[in-house]
Amino acid sequence: MKLFILFGCLIYLVGYHAKTLKQQRRFPEDFLFGTATAAYQIEGGWNADGKGENIWDYVTHNTPTVITDASNGDVAADSYNNYKRDVQMMRELGLDAYRFSISWARILPDGFSNNVNEAGVKFYNNYINEMIKYNIEPIVTLYHWDLPQKLQELGGFANPLFSDWFEDYARVAFDHFGDRVKLWITFNEPREICYEGYASDTKAPVLNSSAVGAYICAKNLILSHAKAYHAYNNDFKSNQGGECGITISVNWYGPLTDSKDDAMAAELRRQAEWGLYAEPIFSSEGDFPKELSRKIALKSAEQGYSRSRLPSLTDDEKDFVKGSFDFFGVNHYTSLLVSASEYKQEFIVPSMLDDVGAFTYVPEEWPKAASYWLRLAPNSIYNALSHLRNKYGNIKFIITENGWSSGPSGGLIDDDRVRYYRAALESVLDCLDDGINIKGYMAWSLLDNFEWNEGYLERFGLYEVDFEDPARPRTPRKSAFVYKQIIKSREIDHSYEPDPMTMAVDE
Ligand SMILES: *[C@@H]1O[C@H](CO)[C@@H](O)[C@H](O)[C@H]1NC(C)=O
Repeated sequence: MKLFILFGCLIYLVGYHAKTLKQQRRFPEDFLFGTATAAYQIEGGWNADGKGENIWDYVTHNTPTVITDASNGDVAADSYNNYKRDVQMMRELGLDAYRFSISWARILPDGFSNNVNEAGVKFYNNYINEMIKYNIEPIVTLYHWDLPQKLQELGGFANPLFSDWFEDYARVAFDHFGDRVKLWITFNEPREICYEGYASDTKAPVLNSSAVGAYICAKNLILSHAKAYHAYNNDFKSNQGGECGITISVNWYGPLTDSKDDAMAAELRRQAEWGLYAEPIFSSEGDFPKELSRKIALKSAEQGYSRSRLPSLTDDEKDFVKGSFDFFGVNHYTSLLVSASEYKQEFIVPSMLDDVGAFTYVPEEWPKAASYWLRLAPNSIYNALSHLRNKYGNIKFIITENGWSSGPSGGLIDDDRVRYYRAALESVLDCLDDGINIKGYMAWSLLDNFEWNEGYLERFGLYEVDFEDPARPRTPRKSAFVYKQIIKSREIDHSYEPDPMTMAVDE
């Protein structure tokens, strides 16, 4: 009996100690907690006050079959008219920062900088000023997939002059908003722009140019990023004092087994998924990833092309893009396991997947979101970020997106989203414990919005939006309360239950 009591005390003490240790894991006071959105997904006002047509307007209006529910972003969450409510939600959550994107065609209707739409500039000025008023740091993405249609008709990212057009647009944005915006992101997710837009039939401009379009786009996109970065660095930074980076989607691709073949397969897949875009900017060589470049050149020759489908970078171009960043924005959602031989899948020839020639596998036990590609994978953020740190050094990282989807009738009690956010933020704390230089975390997303091909069938919001109601009312989900509590306490309390779920701005 006495022994039992002694043991009981011991177990209690060990448990108590572990708990206090755990409670010491805190996010630093200067860590930026925010949420993220994109213009086309939330704004609506697709042709309001002189806005030009963009590629998503064009695709959703002309080939609605590309969108599962044949919907579009004409009105979306109507943030164009509800921006004050959006900022109120940011205040309710206690956000330090808010990441949003500028619609290129709203401020330059034809894409070119000769014609600036003052009403569009005014909208973003109002939005930014409303955030600044309440001490919320605006983080601006210049390009989140909504190219002016006029520029698409000239070839879009496949036109070698694209980088000049992008630089001109970036300068207009720095000029008008740079006095208040101190964190600039040139592009959101080059892989999704180039691979899904130019090499598949899923995202605008739906070019479906498998294995050729995406690689041309990759080169022009990287040069465009670097031109905007250098424009900021040379002509704005000394006055405005901000920073400029790029956001790349870095999901974790780990080897299925510890065989050498699987290690190589996973490396090749990583190179194709994000190394293609990250390596020229963040590595010391300033070039496309070596093994992938070799493989594409080899396959291209076998397939009878007179040159590699992946264009090369000249030495001048490499020098120009190398080191063109102040921070690395990471969008991270999930993990996949890669095998050189198991789980064989059919690939279109030629294609990026065939160039890589590796197969992916996702364990059944990783919980599923509503989006087919999204699972809750263990240590996902830590695996990705420690890999990036080891590859590119301990540069400044900001997690610019991370989130979880539910179906349209998911409701307000989103326990699976709460579980995902808590796990993700524990993984961020693992990174911070390991000394990885992560400076902020943006949850995707502030509110339900137009989820591209899935229309309104997948919901990522901390706030639910009623798309049936013309006023587009927003209601906080349970995850909003949980995120708010984490931001306020700078700790993850796994036992916290919001009750009642009433939201207000803390004064
Ligand atoms: C895109 O290309 C693939 C492979 O060539 C083809 O199977 C598919 O039908 C194409 N999609 C469209 C919308 O044309």
